[in-house]
Amino acid sequence: MDHLYRNNSKHRELFKVDTRNLIQQGSTELSQIQKVGKCRWKQISRCSAQPKIDSSSYFDMALLTGATSGIGWELAHQLSAQKIPLIVTGRDQKKLFQLEKKLGCFSFRADLSLEEGRKKVMEVILEKRPTLMINNAGMALYGNFLSHSLSEQMKLIHVNADAIIELSYIAGKTLKSHGKKGVILNISSIAGEFPCPGMATYSAAKALVTNFSKSLDYELRSDGIRVLVTILGQVKTNFAKRASKNKSFRRQEPAISAKLAAELIFRQIRKRKGVRIIPHYYSVLLPIALSMPSQWICKKIFRSINNRIG
Ligand SMILES: NC(=O)c1ccc[n+]([C@@H]2O[C@H](COP(=O)([O-])OP(=O)(O)OC[C@H]3O[C@@H](n4cnc5c(N)ncnc54)[C@H](OP(=O)(O)O)[C@@H]3O)[C@@H](O)[C@H]2O)c1
Repeated sequence: MDHLYRNNSKHRELFKVDTRNLIQQGSTELSQIQKVGKCRWKQISRCSAQPKIDSSSYFDMALLTGATSGIGWELAHQLSAQKIPLIVTGRDQKKLFQLEKKLGCFSFRADLSLEEGRKKVMEVILEKRPTLMINNAGMALYGNFLSHSLSEQMKLIHVNADAIIELSYIAGKTLKSHGKKGVILNISSIAGEFPCPGMATYSAAKALVTNFSKSLDYELRSDGIRVLVTILGQVKTNFAKRASKNKSFRRQEPAISAKLAAELIFRQIRKRKGVRIIPHYYSVLLPIALSMPSQWICKKIFRSINNRIG
């Protein structure tokens, strides 16, 4: 932002010098002075009209999980375009290298389903003290609860729930102990708003993410730390294909692009909006769905998930 002030003051100085010169040269003609004045003020106002860097979108450092694919990939590009120093993480080393090369960010590999992976991210938070922490990494499992192994279900809980709590804790604690303001944004899902047979564990984990974020936002707001939550509907990424374990996946509901989702999430961060449902039409559908009997919702969702996995 400095250069704007610098340019402005440069023009203001030139305006003063021009006017002073004219007066010193004995030219007291008001019209001539006004002419020079108008020209210089035009330069000043043109300069002021330049888009200023929005201070609400400026962060010393951002840490983003799940940056190797889908929404996280697009978010990494958004943050980098805003010139926010960025640290990204995920498991896919090739994609992490690609991001480093393309965006000039710092990356490291961490598997959030493992304790050592989550510890690694916590250590980076303690060391780098990001003022923006985005917990985006996530995974689902489509199909009946008992059709997957218990270890797979627990892995899902580690990535979608444990990691969110642990990383939010360390990020919040680090910001607070250094007297810094910051934002923690957790990515949740519309699936956390009602029972979802066919993805019971995922739905439970996302319900945790949403309520945890809303509560934490209330607790930390007075310290200048905001905890935002994005409640996502269908987004075109590899997410559903992975959740169906690459079975013949058929998308049923309309979905928005990952790029658009990332843009809307970034807007949420800029506006510090506590809760944001994306795409917006889900905020209209949600109260209608919630007014229906639970058994009706279960039936609809169960059918939809089964249709997705073919
Ligand atoms: N797409 C949707 O329709 C939708 C709807 C509602 C909510 N969401 C939520 O949006 C977020 C982003 O999902 P997406 O749609 O972008 O899906 P995606 O394309 O499958 O990306 C998921 C990201 O999470 C990372 N991840 C998964 N398991 C991980 C693990 N064990 N350790 C570390 N990182 C892991 C992946 O990293 P690697 O590839 O490197 O493993 C990847 O970068 C998730 O939290 C998801 O629950 C998505």
